[in-house]
Amino acid sequence: MRSVTWIEDLARRADAVLPDYVSAYYHSNAGDGSCDREGIADWNAFRMRPSVLRDASAQSTATEVLGTPVAAPVLVAPMAQQVGARPEGEVLTARGAAKAGTLLGVSTNTGARFADIAAEGAPWWYQVYVARNRDATRILVERAAAAEAKALILTVDTTPLGREVPAIDPRNWPAGPRKNRTANLTEAELDRFGSDTDMALDLTPDTIGWLADVSGLPVLCKGVLTARDARRCVDAGAEGIIVSTHGGRRLGTSVTSAFALPEILAEVGSEVEVHVDSGIRGGAQAAAAIALGAKAVHVGRPVMWGLAADGADGVATVLGNYQAELVTTLRQLGIGSIRDLGPADVVARGAAR
Ligand code: FNR
Repeated sequence: MRSVTWIEDLARRADAVLPDYVSAYYHSNAGDGSCDREGIADWNAFRMRPSVLRDASAQSTATEVLGTPVAAPVLVAPMAQQVGARPEGEVLTARGAAKAGTLLGVSTNTGARFADIAAEGAPWWYQVYVARNRDATRILVERAAAAEAKALILTVDTTPLGREVPAIDPRNWPAGPRKNRTANLTEAELDRFGSDTDMALDLTPDTIGWLADVSGLPVLCKGVLTARDARRCVDAGAEGIIVSTHGGRRLGTSVTSAFALPEILAEVGSEVEVHVDSGIRGGAQAAAAIALGAKAVHVGRPVMWGLAADGADGVATVLGNYQAELVTTLRQLGIGSIRDLGPADVVARGAAR
């Protein structure tokens, strides 16, 4: 019998406590799900190169992301509909991230108020889906900056989720406590903007500079999968790139993030921080990404499952497990600090044969 990983076990426990429509939304993918599945498999295809007879008595995973210290380069990816997991949503996620000493992304589609999230003490970045009415976005971004968001994550893979089952679309969820509200616009603003808070599909590189001007914050572009696009983002002022397939939820046939990372690092890695997410299912896989040159990884679904199953403690446990696995990997590689992890420590499985 195949052994079950702690993440698979956690997903099962989360699924057991969630209504079907919520757990289906969290699991959902674009197309036939192959981008998600192969995304996970591609991270597992990297192999580390252990090194022995080195002082392995102490390991540090501490680093900085855009100048913010974190206990480990494992951040929480922005995810919508967290009130579907727990009524307090991101407030608990922030509490878990604070316990783990790391930073979280907060989705535009959060049902929690910025001030309540910020009060938990974890540093946070605000994820922006630019609205059709730019005033709605400007108001949200100004409020996020006032609540001490330290950066903006501009999600640029702006197509509606590649999901075809209407029942799991959050807009069709039954009314009740799990139904997300955009908690950071007033009722009057929501009435005024109406459907113009829907995602704009006409973004250009100029959007990056506009957001930086409005907020005074650095902007990272999330959902970049080619060197060409990374270059366009950086030339337009992006201070970071997040390589991401949106957890396989955007284009079912797209390249995976593990495939895309090396070409993006080669293009812009010496100029800006390059982060990565999608399918990173443990500290060992995070170590491979960081050895390749990523500054940090972001974790999506496992954190959501931790939140659903065990609240803030569940979030902290998930992040703590990634960190512990990073420590184990560093120890086996004979490396004292994650800052010293590099390309010589990892190979693609094909090259290892
Ligand atoms: C997401 N993701 C996402 N991304 C974003 O920029 N804004 C959002 O509102 C959301 N919402 C969202 C909801 C749910 C339920 C999931 C699972 C994902 C994508 C997320 O930030 C991240 O890119 C992926 O989750 C990373 O992949 P893994 O770790 O889930 O495999």
